[in-house]
Amino acid sequence: MKKLLILSSSPRRDGNSIRLAEAAAHGATEAGHAVEIFQVDDHVSSFLRDCRQCRNDRGECGIEDGFRELFLEHYLPADGILFATPLYWYGMSGQLKTFFDRTFCYYAASCPDSAANIAGMARKRIGLLISSEETYPGAILGVIHSIQEFSRYTHSEFVGVVQGIGNRRGDVDRDPEDPLERASHLGATIFDRHFSDYRIDTERTGSVWAT
Ligand SMILES: Cc1cc2nc3c(=O)[nH]c(=O)nc-3n(C[C@H](O)[C@H](O)[C@H](O)COP(=O)(O)O)c2cc1C
Repeated sequence: MKKLLILSSSPRRDGNSIRLAEAAAHGATEAGHAVEIFQVDDHVSSFLRDCRQCRNDRGECGIEDGFRELFLEHYLPADGILFATPLYWYGMSGQLKTFFDRTFCYYAASCPDSAANIAGMARKRIGLLISSEETYPGAILGVIHSIQEFSRYTHSEFVGVVQGIGNRRGDVDRDPEDPLERASHLGATIFDRHFSDYRIDTERTGSVWAT
């Protein structure tokens, strides 16, 4: 059984991001995976600070909110992560960006457990769920690029993106492109779907799929 963590990062508890997150959770659960969903700002209430000023006597992050538990006990052990974010100013939400920033305290060389934390951050399967008002494909490229680079940096495999169109809470339910179904499918297949990222000398066969 694989562990999937879903991080939903809108401040709206009942908005479109959580609708996509819950659909993905449903698909992953049906596929037999162990799934957890968290709303990021239930656990993260402060930006990254200057670590030199902020670390406690044991060299650990001194910010007292739920990030430590979320990161150490849920993020690191997971085999796969689905990030769900609203599109904010053509980027990810501040909540999700802060989640990424806060990981720094835990993998920086000055952290006593950095080696173990780096190992835990690496080699996951990663997917992305985006809710946005605008439909044109360019609007979400900034978010996709951030997640792609984070995945590359952590030797992870970025395996899929689902965009749901909506603005009012629950609007994504009425998106005719059925993002809830696609999110459910991404959740169900995140660990099994074919992934490729070639280099010039990658050995490959002519067909991608078995005939
Ligand atoms: C601060 C803010 C910035 C936004 N920026 C964009 C944007 O650049 N492009 C867009 O398509 N929608 C934008 N939106 C709309 C949201 O992406 C959209 O309403 C989304 O469905 C909200 O997801 P949620 O219900 O999970 O909060 C923005 C909304 C807010 C509150």
